[in-house]
Amino acid sequence: MLPANEAGISAAVTALAVGDLVAIPTETVYGLAGDARNGAAVARIFEAKGRPSFNPLIVHVPDIETAQAYGVWSDTAQKLAEAFWPGPLTLVLPLRAGSNLSSLVTAGLDSIALRVPAHPTALAILRAFSGPLAAPSANPSGQISPTLPAHVAGGLGNRIAAIVDGGACGVGLESTIIGLTGAPALLRPGGLPAEMIEDLLGAPLLQHVAGDAITAPGQLGSHYAPRASMRLNAETARPGETLLGFGPTDGAALNLSPTGDLTEAAANLFGHLHQLDRTARIIAVASIPDHGLGCAINDRLRRAAAPR
Ligand code: TXA
Ligand code: MG
Repeated sequence: MLPANEAGISAAVTALAVGDLVAIPTETVYGLAGDARNGAAVARIFEAKGRPSFNPLIVHVPDIETAQAYGVWSDTAQKLAEAFWPGPLTLVLPLRAGSNLSSLVTAGLDSIALRVPAHPTALAILRAFSGPLAAPSANPSGQISPTLPAHVAGGLGNRIAAIVDGGACGVGLESTIIGLTGAPALLRPGGLPAEMIEDLLGAPLLQHVAGDAITAPGQLGSHYAPRASMRLNAETARPGETLLGFGPTDGAALNLSPTGDLTEAAANLFGHLHQLDRTARIIAVASIPDHGLGCAINDRLRRAAAPR
């Protein structure tokens, strides 16, 4: 476990430079970072997560300029990046020819997912490393995403070189993924509400349809899954269930946001699921309004509840 100070950041960068994996804090969730130019490092990410290799990774960069070196830029990309980077937004762009990235990162696709994270420690590591970092969420594939160093240690602790301790992730949901290889499309709802993107673009986003050629994480039915089984839109706990509340909820073991605040609920979602999963057999979850961040929360809950 490394502290999020100069010494810790420098140790993290040293490990990344030799191809080791380091879990780093971002504002969304903890990322399992490796050098995106180093095929062996990227292969280790897939191995550590037990991730199907057809699922491409997000490449993290420190600024727009670096992103332009890897993705074919457009006016729309510029508009979105200027408005929302650094932040919980990932842009999928056509891959620029002659990039020095490992082809494993894009899983052989001719597009690339790019993001500038807002967490100061992530940015400091990216600047000091001065290279692109592939970083999926730092959890075993299919399980609950990590929003605390302890979540990472519990899931991957013995498979990675280090964890940089940046405390709890502020946003708590993975980035929103927007496809820009054609008309702007919502590939994954996430920490940036889709409505904000549509307002900026002045047009609705295409909605990703399952079965499209484009690979997005959501296509795997079961994802973000606790050990316990899940029941959604619960009003009360039935016998044997543990209730996760939202807004005023009687008998809740934990509450995502007693005041019904979606931002607070997003930040608490994975942490509360991790905590309940230690003892619950069935987690019943109160209903969450399906707008703003609620769309991404409901997306994660549906996948957590999907048949395995
Ligand atoms: O907030 C986040 O995005 C976190 C933090 C660590 O930055 N990262 C994250 O990465 O959620 P990951 O690997 O768990 O999710 C990335 C998803 C992949 O599942 C993949 O489906 C999609 O992004 N993706 C990556 N490259 C793509 C591409 N070229 N085309 C379409 N989707 C892509
Ligand atoms: Mg993930």
